[in-house]
Amino acid sequence: MHWRNRAFVAAALVYGLLGGALALWWLSGSAPLTFNLPRIHGHLMTLGFVAMMIYGVGLHVLPRFSGRPLSSERLANLQFYLANAGLLLMIPGWAGGGPLWLHIGGGLAWLAMGLFAYNIVTTVRHYGPGG
Ligand code: HEM
Ligand code: HEM
Repeated sequence: MHWRNRAFVAAALVYGLLGGALALWWLSGSAPLTFNLPRIHGHLMTLGFVAMMIYGVGLHVLPRFSGRPLSSERLANLQFYLANAGLLLMIPGWAGGGPLWLHIGGGLAWLAMGLFAYNIVTTVRHYGPGG
């Protein structure tokens, strides 16, 4: 398995555990109300746990299912850095830092999704008879 796909899966598990712990902190009633903790939890779970798991598993299995190598390993590596930087930059935005963090982090997270979409489409698309 490519190191990047393994790292995506590991990051997903870390984000999932962290997101769950934040939700439990929120439920305990002792979390500071200046933080939008539910939204941080929601995105650690959806963009962190779910999306990163899909990225890691998808980049590993979809080329194998289609019988072709991944269209670009370099773009997938870039996607890994953008997805993680994006999510991590969004968190201060919901922790009282203001919307600029969300715009920058959200933009990077979205670019990562775009790279994933491009890479997967160019890998699994029909290449004519036999492929
Ligand atoms: C460890 C298990 C989990 C616990 C204890 C938990 C708990 C919570 C709590 C307490 C809230 C806030 C509710 C409120 O607004 O008062 C919440 C919101 C939310 N949770 Fe979870 N949750 C868990 C797992 C998940 C998972 C697996 C996902 C998605 C894959 C998820 C997605 C969301 C979303 C999207 C919100 C709404 C966030 C928002 O309002 O911005 N949660 N959860
Ligand atoms: C590029 C990726 C994403 C960006 C930039 C982003 C950004 C945001 C922002 C800025 C908000 C707050 C909106 C407000 O202030 O009312 C929000 C809310 C939310 N997002 Fe995301 N998000 C992304 C991906 C996702 C994904 C993948 C999911 C679920 C699969 C998700 C689920 C939600 C939910 C449930 C809310 C709360 C809606 C509400 O209760 O008002 N987001 N997102």
